[in-house]
Amino acid sequence: MKLHYVEAGRGPAVLLVHAFPLNHTMWASQIDALKDRFRVIAPDIRGFGQSATDSPWTLAQAADDLAELLDTLSVSDCALVGLSMGGYIGLPFYAKYANRVRRLILADTRARADNEAEKKGRTDLVAALEQSGAGILADRVLPRLLKPEPSPSASTQVRGIIAAASAKAAIFASQAMRDRADATPVLSQISCPTLVIAGEEDAITRVDECRAMAETIQAGRFVMIPGAGHLSNIENAEAFNAAVSAFLA
Ligand code: MLT
Repeated sequence: MKLHYVEAGRGPAVLLVHAFPLNHTMWASQIDALKDRFRVIAPDIRGFGQSATDSPWTLAQAADDLAELLDTLSVSDCALVGLSMGGYIGLPFYAKYANRVRRLILADTRARADNEAEKKGRTDLVAALEQSGAGILADRVLPRLLKPEPSPSASTQVRGIIAAASAKAAIFASQAMRDRADATPVLSQISCPTLVIAGEEDAITRVDECRAMAETIQAGRFVMIPGAGHLSNIENAEAFNAAVSAFLA
């Protein structure tokens, strides 16, 4: 499926894959920081931002969408940066298109599938969205996306991005994440240099879990972003950008 995307800069390609329930605009600071040295490509995943969705989808299909986008842009390989849902998509992308990944950055994400409690949480969210619409989304997800006492500017920014998500997009993405396969076996196949990032106060994908993921990956490194929760690229953009720039240098 054709995805909407923004593109900036010239050089080796960097593909930024966003979190749930956001869109490519969450990467504004990273696009700015990287565009002098890289060709930065930031798509909207199915249903989000200006990408369409009319039926349920799987993370494997979302990975195929990324490959199709790279084809459209005549990009043979890229550094793929996936944050949270972006990482859930990045791992099946690597499994199928390893030769198109020069470097991998997995931020605030995990390889394992949802456990039963997490699946139930997604099913409950889908029911609430079906009943009440997308208006409930920000209050439901924001507390876990940001650190316990977030800065007003981060809250306002993320709330604004979430407000753009439709109920349909959030429902399909929640179902896709709930039903995703365990990608743990992919970790031992990863042969490209890989950076795993975790926000110090991430309440969804914990620091220890992310560090363990880095240790499983052959050429894996780990960086913790201080003073940040799950959306570490927004809550401490300076440290996030420094880690990404150093790794991609
Ligand atoms: C995300 O940030 O993409 C989601 O919070 C991930 C999740 O709910 O597992």
